[in-house]
Amino acid sequence: MRRRIGVLTSGGDCPGLNAVLRGVVLASDKLGWEVIGFRDGFEGLLPPGDHLILDHRNTNGIMPLGGTIIGTTNRGHFAAKVGAGDRTIVPRDVIAGAKTILAELNVGALIVVGGDGSLMTAQQLQEAGINCIGVPKTIDNDLEATAMTFGFDSAVDVVVDALDRLHTTATSHKRVIVVEVMGRHTGWIALHGGLAGGADVILIPEIPFDYDKIADAIKARDGAGHLGTMVVVAEGAKARHGQQVKRDVEGGEFRLGGIGDVVAREIAGRTGKETRCCVLGHLQRGGAPTVLDRILATRFGVKAVQLANEGHFGTMVSYQNYQMRRVSIADAVNRLKLVPPNGELVQTARDVDISFGD
Ligand code: F6P
Repeated sequence: MRRRIGVLTSGGDCPGLNAVLRGVVLASDKLGWEVIGFRDGFEGLLPPGDHLILDHRNTNGIMPLGGTIIGTTNRGHFAAKVGAGDRTIVPRDVIAGAKTILAELNVGALIVVGGDGSLMTAQQLQEAGINCIGVPKTIDNDLEATAMTFGFDSAVDVVVDALDRLHTTATSHKRVIVVEVMGRHTGWIALHGGLAGGADVILIPEIPFDYDKIADAIKARDGAGHLGTMVVVAEGAKARHGQQVKRDVEGGEFRLGGIGDVVAREIAGRTGKETRCCVLGHLQRGGAPTVLDRILATRFGVKAVQLANEGHFGTMVSYQNYQMRRVSIADAVNRLKLVPPNGELVQTARDVDISFGD
């Protein structure tokens, strides 16, 4: 049997996952490894195993496809994280079952493509003796250990496209339009999307806001003769002295969402203006990856195979200073990258008259 590298995609899907898989397959082939993909994240490692051989035939042409051809889940038996940073232990028998399957299939290294929670699981598998390499993925771009995750640029692209479309309707009707975007506990998608899409107000978790200040900004715009106002709100944003708005709780994990409607109501009440809310939701996770994400994902996939080939187990590929590097998974997990409230990007936004409602 040829030596084998395993690969799985875990957590919320995003554009670029298939580009990573393609990169892994092509780079592995060059180095003499066969690639075996596990379906539906870590669940594919549960006995009797759910897997398929990945080769140039079934990965040809997948780069532009959104989602992941081997499936994913952000729930299941291997969950190692609950809520914002709480770690749970993956049961011993679950890890033992995964080890057996990997040994039976002669898999010498496992590439885990996932966000913070999935990398926490990879860390526990690594501690249990499974050779893991991490590839950071999330539209939220919230991992401190890498300058960028793939999926982020594509998500921001969706936000910008939506803002461009909504701008004209806001102006025509002289309305306020509130656009709720993803990002969990960070405001990267809202900040980048809002800046590039010409938003007038951006609300992010890192800068708690005040409804009266938002209303003041809108009234000032009216006074200056602007016809419409675009407000971008991150799903994790909250009012000063307020709480994050949660949709539901599933197995100890909560889903954020709903702040857009609350903000729209408060604005309408304070300004008397017609206000509408548009929630972009999972649109931000679908569709073809941008050029930047295709290249980043390919580089991550290739680098992950090189790290496996050189035996650098327990590490994660990381993008720093335009280079592919490696960091230890243990150092990478549970370090949330927040938007610096006094950083240059926020200041630039303020300098082009964007209000943060503070
Ligand atoms: O982490 C990616 C993400 O899309 C977040 O921005 C969002 O809060 C969450 O996943 C949504 O998860 P689900 O797909 O379970 O609704």
